[in-house]
Amino acid sequence: MTIPAELVADWEQLNARWQTSTLQPWLAILPNQLASGLSPERFGDLPRWRDALANLPALPTGSPQLTSARVGLSGEASPPTLSMLRAALMGLHPWRKGPFELCGLHVDTEWRSDWKWDRLEPVLESLAGKRVLDVGCGNGYHCWRMLGAGAAEVVGIDPTPLFILQFKALQRYLDQEHIYVLPLTLEAMPEDLPAFDTVFSMGVLYHRRDPLAHLKSLKGKLVPGGQLLLETLVVEGDQDTVLEPNGRYARMGNVWHLPSPDLARRWMSEVGLIDATVVDVGPTSVAEQRSTEWMTFHSLSDFLDPQNPRLTVEGYPAPRRAILTARAPG
Ligand SMILES: C[S@@+](CC[C@H](N)C(=O)[O-])C[C@H]1O[C@@H](n2cnc3c(N)ncnc32)[C@H](O)[C@@H]1O
Repeated sequence: MTIPAELVADWEQLNARWQTSTLQPWLAILPNQLASGLSPERFGDLPRWRDALANLPALPTGSPQLTSARVGLSGEASPPTLSMLRAALMGLHPWRKGPFELCGLHVDTEWRSDWKWDRLEPVLESLAGKRVLDVGCGNGYHCWRMLGAGAAEVVGIDPTPLFILQFKALQRYLDQEHIYVLPLTLEAMPEDLPAFDTVFSMGVLYHRRDPLAHLKSLKGKLVPGGQLLLETLVVEGDQDTVLEPNGRYARMGNVWHLPSPDLARRWMSEVGLIDATVVDVGPTSVAEQRSTEWMTFHSLSDFLDPQNPRLTVEGYPAPRRAILTARAPG
């Protein structure tokens, strides 16, 4: 299989960097994963998205902004350049995670992902010099923030090809080293790969049929003593409470288990993680997740019961999210 053009440079760098590291076992299977993750046979929209990338205009040199809410590039571009930029980026609609800003163009995404970052940052151990894995990273918004927080190497993985190409559009301008967003699932990685100082899994647990297997697999990626940050949808209740939606939840398919925060903590302990702690819980607001011109489809307000916004349209408790931390023993 051929590695797609967008990922050749990533592969060459990782192949060189990881030969003598604990990530070396992954190199044997990674080329095939990169090829199938962006395969035009599997993803019919790829040619359209690739055209959008090819239409990105050159921008004036600016400074990369990795520590502010709007990740992007400072500087000013001419109105015709900005209108070409807008048109090319709109070819990668829908923009779910962000916000971003490039030379004054604000990509106002569906999610204020910076708010999630603000909630987790106080409990995040320093990323300075660390190797980090972001599982289900979407277009890599939080990966940029991790790099901005000093990480030495950030690897994001996500199986949705549009999000990989959105990351590539940003990387065209930010041009940072040691940040990679790769088209694959956690399950595709070698199960036992204790190579990462910090592992994030945000917004993925409830999409997995077997949440304990997901947590065990995350643990398998941590160096001894490494920190796991887990963010997930939850429901109120005690350590035995779990909601298993019958069909859709807030119009989302593929939602299997919504634990209480205490049950999520118990699951973390059950797979052998230590110091499992719930650090933040709260409802998702319609200010944090909403339709915008960069994500014109329905969003949270359309998924709530119009008579009672404490419930979803299916009659389940409205979305609440929790952040938990734990560490690998050792
Ligand atoms: C709700 S989004 C969360 C994005 C981001 N982590 C955040 O918190 O804003 C879930 C992401 O997980 C990805 N995903 C789903 N199943 C996955 C799996 N098995 N392994 C890795 N990523 C997965 C989806 O493609 C999607 O981009």
